[in-house]
Amino acid sequence: MIKSFLCPFLFSVLLFAAGSQGFAQGVREKINFNEGWKFHFGNANDPTKDFNYGIANLFAKSGKAERTAIENKFDDANWRSLQLPHDWAVELPFVNTDNIDVKDHGYKPVGGLFPETSIGWYRKHFSVNAADSGKRFAVQFDGIFRDAKVWINGYYLGTNESGYVGFTRDITDYIDFHHENVMVVRVDATQYEGWFYEGAGIYRNTWLLKYNNVHFAEDGVFVHSKVEGTQANVYVESTVKNEGFSEKEFAVLANILDRNGNTIGQTSESHVVLQAGESRTVKQVVVVSSPKLWSIEQPYLYRVVPVIKSGDEIIDKQTILFGIRTVEIKANGVFLNGKHIKIKGTNNHQDHAGIGSALPDYMQYYRIGLLKEMGSNAYRASHHAPTPELLDACDSLGMLVLDEQRLLNSSPEYMDQFDRLIKKDRNHPSVFLWSIGNEEGYAQTNSFGKRIAQTLLARQKELDPTRTSTYAADLANVFTGINEVIPVRGFNYRQFAVADYHKAHPDQPLLGTEMGSTVTTRGIYEKDTINAYVPDQDLTAPWWASRAEEWWPLAAENDFWLGGFIWTGFDYRGEPTPYIWPNISSHFGVMDACGFPKNIYYYYQSWWRDKDVIHISPHWNWTGKENQLIKVWVNSNAKQVELFLNGKSLGKKEMPANKHLEWMVTYKPGTLKAVGYTAEGRKIEAIRETTGTPTALVLTPSKTVLLANGQDAVVVNVSAVDSKGREVAIANNQVQFKLDGDAKLIGVGNGDPSSHEPDTFLSGNWQRKLFNGKCQVIIQTGKSVGTVKLTTTSDGLKTNTVTFSVADVTEKGINP
Ligand code: GAL
Repeated sequence: MIKSFLCPFLFSVLLFAAGSQGFAQGVREKINFNEGWKFHFGNANDPTKDFNYGIANLFAKSGKAERTAIENKFDDANWRSLQLPHDWAVELPFVNTDNIDVKDHGYKPVGGLFPETSIGWYRKHFSVNAADSGKRFAVQFDGIFRDAKVWINGYYLGTNESGYVGFTRDITDYIDFHHENVMVVRVDATQYEGWFYEGAGIYRNTWLLKYNNVHFAEDGVFVHSKVEGTQANVYVESTVKNEGFSEKEFAVLANILDRNGNTIGQTSESHVVLQAGESRTVKQVVVVSSPKLWSIEQPYLYRVVPVIKSGDEIIDKQTILFGIRTVEIKANGVFLNGKHIKIKGTNNHQDHAGIGSALPDYMQYYRIGLLKEMGSNAYRASHHAPTPELLDACDSLGMLVLDEQRLLNSSPEYMDQFDRLIKKDRNHPSVFLWSIGNEEGYAQTNSFGKRIAQTLLARQKELDPTRTSTYAADLANVFTGINEVIPVRGFNYRQFAVADYHKAHPDQPLLGTEMGSTVTTRGIYEKDTINAYVPDQDLTAPWWASRAEEWWPLAAENDFWLGGFIWTGFDYRGEPTPYIWPNISSHFGVMDACGFPKNIYYYYQSWWRDKDVIHISPHWNWTGKENQLIKVWVNSNAKQVELFLNGKSLGKKEMPANKHLEWMVTYKPGTLKAVGYTAEGRKIEAIRETTGTPTALVLTPSKTVLLANGQDAVVVNVSAVDSKGREVAIANNQVQFKLDGDAKLIGVGNGDPSSHEPDTFLSGNWQRKLFNGKCQVIIQTGKSVGTVKLTTTSDGLKTNTVTFSVADVTEKGINP
């Protein structure tokens, strides 16, 4: 089901690739800089093991880097070669310690207690064509965890503290056009920023940018629109910069193209004269008649192409994917293009099984696709700036985003992070609301919090007058501090207080920023405190949170709830609530860390999707429990459901809205069947059968045509079936993976929150156990066109393979 849902999106992914990187050669190029990096651990406590960092006097003279790994001639031949994105935390073994932060970060040896595995050095050798010596160059890092110091050819380019907000450094003055250049990054992950798994290293994409001296500033084009009747005014505010050494005269304009590449509108040309070093913002407007509006169902994207022209020559040009839509947030709901929508959201951290925080771009589309399939229409990037490609995926697939600042703080460091967050993300139609922070226990109710919030809110309005902000408060009916000034009141849990708060503040829109939070382990039906598993039903929630059926009916049935975001869509590493070791990852997800649905997924799907849903749990393999009573849950949106065991009816029941049904069933092996009768008279069915033992593995790839660009990825889900082809929900066989062809395995997982098996195998012999019938492997392509074959073997089971065709990315105009 998931596979067929995702396929239609492949096209939009390809379109995006063309849109985002299709800069005209010679005008502006955005060159992927992920390949050819060298990596080595440094040491946070011992400078001699940190390539003399801290001993060598680096800042006495510009370009001074002797005796360190920063100098060009340093020999990195024995350093590991790798391709970004890279998360070294996911590669490290788990460690059992009592330290609460290490637990919350997923028991990985990263942080101040682990000096040997918390500093990472990266080096990249590269050449630049001498013909380009009049151009400007910059390096763009979309995310490094964290505290990254960057040098090129021994020259220091600066530090970026944030583990989440990307940064760009101009490198024009330091490029050697006749010899090799060396870029060096020292990443210091000794300090945490969050209380969840954060990864470590250069875990997002990196780019080399090339453009002319007169150019658009970094994140310097702001596009927004206003729909009026049957037309839209699209405003393009372009900040242009002259970094040459003499006055320059030029024109600025912007074209708008539809999805098929046809130009459908153009601004007038603005004449600009800039002195050397000067910059200016040019504000223009273009009218689009009968615009196709961006929506969750039809995420139509236009391309806005701002251009700088000197005479007839184009000297800079960008392509920005943009959606025309209106968002109004009122006390009685969110209105997208005038239509009321309830926020059916999920909170998520950024890691995925097998690969930690280092997600190939495809994984963003995969994960957002899974959430959409469940019926979710909104994503909260908890609790930090999202990866650019996550927003691209949300734009392309139709998912609203609540975009969040890491820390509520108005100091220069955090104001700068907030500025960059807004400037980078404000063109994305998916972003519908900003969040200035989350559960700031030291500030949320006092005047510090109020003043910091006022400063951030004023800045948000200045940088993006088209949106408003919320703040995720873990407070009940409390109005002091941040709540006094926040336009949209966020509730983390405390769902019981929302109605009273609304009575007291009827004009303030109210959003469940963290709701629900049932803890479940996929496929487990008995609490197991040794293995640290919780039953996979809507039964158990931490004291501060609530079960799905406790919050969603309130949100669904009251317009003063804008809706809410479940904590969480996917399990994530760290925060192993309600347990500690051996539990290393959270249980909060509606899906596990691989994206395999837990039973509660079907609760939300029943009430969030407009398609027929019927689902039975638990599985029906209960050898040893014959004649004992087993509670059977049916999640469905049918009006009535009748349950049958081996053909015999166990009764028909009315389905209460926003709930589920239960039957106590005396266990006998065989077939459980649920028949649902929808309000419109359709009959829908679900079946659970007692299976035999596993005889084979079934491989379900998320797609079979891959791109030979060295970046594309595919998810292969593995399940065990019996001789009749029925999935065995209790199988736990060990599976080995082998890959033939130009591609590599980059991660394995199975959703077991207590598994200490490695997620990556740096020297081959890839394997993973099934957990309750399933595991997953992620493959990344190389650059050769042809085929790639994955073979799975498992003792006593039939070997299985899946073959992928790897297509030429330059064909059919897919690549720039
Ligand atoms: C919230 C917090 C989340 C997560 C969650 C776990 O208080 O905002 O980040 O820690 O609790 O229940």
